[in-house]
Formats: sequence, C-alpha cells, structure tokens
Amino acid sequence: MVLGSANADLVVEVARRPLGGETVLGSDTRVLPGGKGANTAVAAGRLGAAVSFLGAVGRDGYGDLLLESLRAAGVSVDRVRRVERPTGLAYIAVTPDGENSIVVSPGANAALTPSDVDLGDAAVLVASLEVPLGVVEHAVAEASRTGVRVVLNLSPVAILSPATVAALDPVVVNEHEAAALGDALLAARSTVITLGARGALVTTPNGTTEVPAPHVTPVDTTGAGDAFTGALAAALAAGDDLVTAAQHAVQVAAFSVTRPGAQPSYPTLADLPSKA
Ligand code: RIB
Ligand code: NA
Repeated sequence: MVLGSANADLVVEVARRPLGGETVLGSDTRVLPGGKGANTAVAAGRLGAAVSFLGAVGRDGYGDLLLESLRAAGVSVDRVRRVERPTGLAYIAVTPDGENSIVVSPGANAALTPSDVDLGDAAVLVASLEVPLGVVEHAVAEASRTGVRVVLNLSPVAILSPATVAALDPVVVNEHEAAALGDALLAARSTVITLGARGALVTTPNGTTEVPAPHVTPVDTTGAGDAFTGALAAALAAGDDLVTAAQHAVQVAAFSVTRPGAQPSYPTLADLPSKA
C-alpha cells in the first residue's frame, strides 16, 4: 500500500536556474505523471508487485493522466479519492547535468484526511510526506497496530512524533535530509540513506552496509528517490532482507536517471540486468 501525493509534473529544461528577479527562457513544457507517492507506486507496480495507491486527485485532466499512469503500471486506484480541488502540480526545472529544482502546489493532495486511510490486507505500507502529516502518522499508527511493516520516505523533511519514528523499518532519506534530521533518525528500526551516484547506506541492528550504485550518465534525476523507495518496498514485500532490497533498489534508481521524467523512466524487471 502506497500512501502519498500524485502530481502532474510540468517539466521545463533550462540552461541554468533563474535568480530572484530574473527571467530565463526554457524548452517546451512536458506534462508528465509524477508526485512522490504515485511515483513510488508506479515503480513498485512496474516491477511486478501487487500495489494499491492511497491518495487524492482533482476532477481534471491532470487527475485522469495520473490515474491512467497508475493503472498502466498495474496499480489499484480503488483508494484514490477525486476531490473538489485542482490536482497537485509540480513545477520542475531540469538543468543539463540532470539536476532538478521543484516547486509543488499540493492541491488535491492536501485534501486527504485520516479517514481515507484503509490499509486493506497490505504486507507493507510505504508513505512519503507531500500529503498532510496527520494522515501519514495515522496510517503508520494503524500499520503498527496491525503488524504491517512501514517504509517511510521522509521527504520533504518533517518532524515526526517519536512513536512514528520508532515504527519505521526503514526510514529512507537522502544525504541532505539525513543531515537535517541528525539524531532523530537513530530511533527508527532501520535506516537507508540514499547517496545519489554513490549508492546507499543501509543501517540495521546488525550494522551498516554500503550498497554501491552502477555507474550511469544522468539525464534527469527527478523521482529517482521515489523509484528507489518503490523498488525497495516491493523487494521487502517479496521477502528480501533490507540489504538485498537496497541492492535491487539502486539498480532501479540508476536506470531511472538515464531517461527523462519520473514515472515514464521507471524500469520493468525485464529492463534490469538481473535482480541484484
Ligand atoms: O520526487 C519527485 C517528485 O517530486 C516529482 O514527480 C514531483 O511531482 C514532486 O512531487
Ligand atoms: Na528519470
């Protein structure tokens, strides 16, 4: 079960980011399915996991685009609510090095409430934080109560209650998020720090393991972390241990950065060299 945001990504390529008060010209705009939650669900679905997405979109064309992308990846959208707010939008500028900067307008994502949470018969709950914090904390509490494993991509960074942190197995963060959170991460059951081109660092009660990434030339890193989280959760749900799951997830994330966009760049198992 993936709980999180669904956004239409409005992507423009620029030579460099504008400074305050400056105007720069970019490429034509591409409209692509995105949002950290929907990205994670699509990544896991494409890899063959049985996935249900819990989220909200508006009654507009962007909402249709997102539902289509989820369905095409085999993701159940029975728990997606259509609400009277515009579908979430992400304004994304991509520079020639494949790096991005993003402004998110949450729209429908902000309309999710704790009463939307229904974990069904999920083995693993995966959440990220472009939806209201109270909804995520409620879902994590529900998962803990019913013995469902919780994977949380703590992005964007937020301060969680101690009970929530204690349930995470693992919490997934990038280096910037890890630095911002510091000791707060230590209370999680396990931790995965993604290091971009350098792979990931996995910490369990048994110690810390470095998981190197394959070398690739990045075209667009948007949504690579979401691909990682989706692949990680899919592998955990299939019974892999955390290090094995992270080895698989770095392959998936590396593949995704070699193609433009978030969801359109995610692999199927057949696209990968082997399930590492
Ligand atoms: O993590 C990448 C995602 O962040 C994009 O797809 C965008 O929608 C924002 O949510
Ligand atoms: Na990509």
